[in-house]
Amino acid sequence: MMAAVAFAQKNEGRFVDELKALLRIPSVSTAPEHVGDVRRAAEFVAAELKRIGMENVRLIETTTAERNGHPLVYADWLHAGKAAPTVLCYGHYDVQPAEPLDEWKTPPFEPTERDGNIYARGAVDDKGQMWMHVKALESLMAAGGGTLPVNVRVIVEGEEEVGGEGIAAFVREHGDQLKADVALVSDTEMFAPELPTLCVGLRGMIYTEIEARGAKVDLHSGMYGGAAPNPFVALAQVIAKLKDENGKILIPGFYDKVQKPTADELKAWKALPFDEEHYRESEVGSSVLTGEPGLSVQERTWARPTLDVHGMPGGFIGAGAKTVIPAKAVAKVSMRLVPDMTPAESFAKYKAYVESIAPKGVALEVRLIHSGDPIVVSTDNSYVKAATEAMREVFGKETVFVRGGGSIPIVGDFVRELKIPTVMMGFGLPDDNLHAPNEKFHLANFYRGIESIVRFLSGVGA
Ligand code: BES
Ligand code: MN
Ligand code: MN
Repeated sequence: MMAAVAFAQKNEGRFVDELKALLRIPSVSTAPEHVGDVRRAAEFVAAELKRIGMENVRLIETTTAERNGHPLVYADWLHAGKAAPTVLCYGHYDVQPAEPLDEWKTPPFEPTERDGNIYARGAVDDKGQMWMHVKALESLMAAGGGTLPVNVRVIVEGEEEVGGEGIAAFVREHGDQLKADVALVSDTEMFAPELPTLCVGLRGMIYTEIEARGAKVDLHSGMYGGAAPNPFVALAQVIAKLKDENGKILIPGFYDKVQKPTADELKAWKALPFDEEHYRESEVGSSVLTGEPGLSVQERTWARPTLDVHGMPGGFIGAGAKTVIPAKAVAKVSMRLVPDMTPAESFAKYKAYVESIAPKGVALEVRLIHSGDPIVVSTDNSYVKAATEAMREVFGKETVFVRGGGSIPIVGDFVRELKIPTVMMGFGLPDDNLHAPNEKFHLANFYRGIESIVRFLSGVGA
């Protein structure tokens, strides 16, 4: 183990250079014009897994008659012996769109080092963190003369940022090919700088579109305004009825299945080092925080459902003015779910409610784009213990357990379909700008992540 740690330290510079090469590939999974880039990123990861000595390296296609999918990257090394456990290392190589481009200080796909950080789309979410897994495996391989202390399978997906349907189908249909004792996921954050953190819960989500149609064609707003329905106004009226000013979602029965966090969890969350005013000012940057009164920020973002609007395509959005009543408008609306809510039931309630409040003269179509289950993982197992020990050795501090407000749809399937515990050991920081301009990864955390994973895999194998 110490030899692997030494190898990683000696090769830090090369590891970062390789990560930069991966970050230069704009693998934006939602954008049809980037399909080729997404595949190039998959091939890049596969080639490196092969080079470091992993076996059975292959791309698994996820395109079916129903959908175009991005490939999974698979690799394994299973010679540690029957007594040794098998760890399933998961990550994703796809990224969110980089727009708005003019907000970036340096271009999103030209990784740049500044103040001990590496700036690029995907730096921390999740190329940089996935690369920590690959580099930890390389370091262990190098130190072990081509062997690992545990059996390892690697699965890296290219559709996490668009709902992860491809990997979900693979897990359902070919779960035996991912047979493992524990999954290791590095796609979450630390609660605060220098504070080793395990994420033990994620919100689920349903991502939807509401399409509103009024007139049969676009109309002159002077000639027809006053007589013709406007689909944007209709959507605004619908949206205004989805959530009240106290952050309460107004869909009937939406909260029926919401589980309260346990008293122990609430106590632990209260003890976290958190300055709400600093969070408001430096992370959120708004004049006040919104949401349900009487609940802490942690409860509101980790243990309560929420509803957000992401964009309203349609109509005229060019510079200047155009006087038109658009025939059609769309609102992209998502809801985050918490245990024990289910995507199917939540979507059915939402759809029925939206249809029931459709304004006069406007036809609404409610579509589900993708969904994922919420999850809280168990902490009562030897793998979580090995993870906290690994991070204590690297950070010199006790690990805190938090939940995350975000979603990683496949984690629920690891727990429910593969029936294995999942360790979510992430090294992002609260100000890493995930999904936003100027995304970064703190390089010290990239190195500490690699060392933590080396120590975790060694600990699990011992
Ligand atoms: N890595 C994030 C999820 C995350 C971030 C979890 C921070 C915990 C803390 C992941 O890549 C992500 O962004 N997921 C999407 C999933 C969605 C598109 C289905 C999300 O949460 O919006
Ligand atoms: Mn991610
Ligand atoms: Mn993401």
